[in-house]
Amino acid sequence: MKTIISPSMLSCDFANIQRDVEMINASSADWFHIDVMDGVFVPNISFGFPVLSAMKKHATKPMDVHIMIENPDAYIQDFKNAGADILTVHFEACRHLHRTIQAIKAVGMKAGVALNPHTPVSLLSDVIADLDLVLIMSVNPGFGGQKFIDHAVEKVKQTKELIASTGSNAIIEVDGGVNLETGKRLVDAGANALVAGSFVFNAKNPTQTIQDLKNL
Ligand code: DX5
Ligand code: ZN
Repeated sequence: MKTIISPSMLSCDFANIQRDVEMINASSADWFHIDVMDGVFVPNISFGFPVLSAMKKHATKPMDVHIMIENPDAYIQDFKNAGADILTVHFEACRHLHRTIQAIKAVGMKAGVALNPHTPVSLLSDVIADLDLVLIMSVNPGFGGQKFIDHAVEKVKQTKELIASTGSNAIIEVDGGVNLETGKRLVDAGANALVAGSFVFNAKNPTQTIQDLKNL
């Protein structure tokens, strides 16, 4: 199967959101990656529900929503209402992760769990069978445009092994510092989905850059 490409809207031009959503619609990208930050779980604030709803009005592809917030349980229904198709919470933000995963699925979204660079893959062993997606962070969350952390490649391999040994159907997605060089290493290691923000939106030709990632 070809790699799923999920451009991160954190790097789009916020004065031209509709234009950039339409660019993604017309490209070979598969999903919209949408980063929600609360200024508490991560040292940055991005955007919230009104912006998600505005993107949803124009998006013709699934919204892959990555929430970097404390207390995600309180907002699951709100993310569904704002148009999220996949909701990925951080392992580090969930005290009752099993309950959170079930709650995401109960309202009709796919459930993902993100791991910070310091969080071992093995901590997912007891929930992997319930997951639709594992998001390996290849930067510390909070900002676009950071340098790729090489150890993420090893974590992709570990996640692939965990999935194979449990019969899980989870997709392995990687987020942070993805370009053609790091993307190729990740795909070779077993990544199924790549998030790319600055590499796509800072490119001279974002549509072609998405296609180049798709061809890896
Ligand atoms: C970081 C976000 C990423 C970010 C990636 O906290 O989760 O999705 O937008 O940006 P790049 O691709 O520029 O590293
Ligand atoms: Zn993200």
